[in-house]
Amino acid sequence: MHVAIIMDGNGRWAERRGLKRTLGHQAGARAVRRIVEAAARLPVDTLTLYAFSSDNWSRPADEVGALMRLFKRYLQSEVARCVENGVRFNVIGRRDRLNADLTRIIERAESVTAEGRRLTLRLAVDYSSRDAIVAAAAALQGAGPSSRAAFESCLAGVSHAATATAPVDLLIRTGGERRLSDFLLWESAYAELVFVDDYWPDFDEAGFAAALREFEARERRFGGVPAAPRRSAGDAV
Ligand code: IPE
Ligand code: IPE
Ligand code: MG
Repeated sequence: MHVAIIMDGNGRWAERRGLKRTLGHQAGARAVRRIVEAAARLPVDTLTLYAFSSDNWSRPADEVGALMRLFKRYLQSEVARCVENGVRFNVIGRRDRLNADLTRIIERAESVTAEGRRLTLRLAVDYSSRDAIVAAAAALQGAGPSSRAAFESCLAGVSHAATATAPVDLLIRTGGERRLSDFLLWESAYAELVFVDDYWPDFDEAGFAAALREFEARERRFGGVPAAPRRSAGDAV
């Protein structure tokens, strides 16, 4: 099962406490660790976390700098744990605007964890779903008759995804907003959406498990009809 999470609310979490937004991002990194550990215990095989959107470059330079330093620190401290726990790590998004140091650390983390089979952990950094779709469409131009599979492998290629992405089953957004903010638009075509009011630093295993229960209670139809239609009292027998 593929779960994607829009980890929103770090800034408001900090502001509520009279702290700087960057402290909210640090608390957010601790929540990432918690949720990744929980994912390994839950029926999740791919977890895609939205960490930095291409539109987030418009934030104040000190906040962007703090986030980039946090990614570096997170990657350096988590790689060993990922290997130990069978977690395969992949960063999706653009790489050409990241600093060379960070790119090197990402590449190292990906190669060291490449054998992980228990959980695929994907972190979206400098990610824009619309940009990825445009780039994939451009890459396919002139390639003859197209198919969804060919498009998806192009989409994976332009996003540095290690494999063509499985569709998102469950998309969770914390922080109370109900929007996608340019995240996995293609991959979420039939995703179940769960919106959680908790700010990301407060999101925990219990909240994650509750979102999964909500997912289980939904009926996915993919455009079809219910598998076993329920009879209502007025139906002829
Ligand atoms: C999400 O939290 C993390 C990033 C976008 C990097 P925000 O920083 O957007 O927090 P809010 O939405 O301002 O509270
Ligand atoms: C989406 O959150 C991006 C991440 C969580 C990384 P934003 O805070 O950037 O989204 P908007 O601006 O509220 O739509
Ligand atoms: Mg936000």
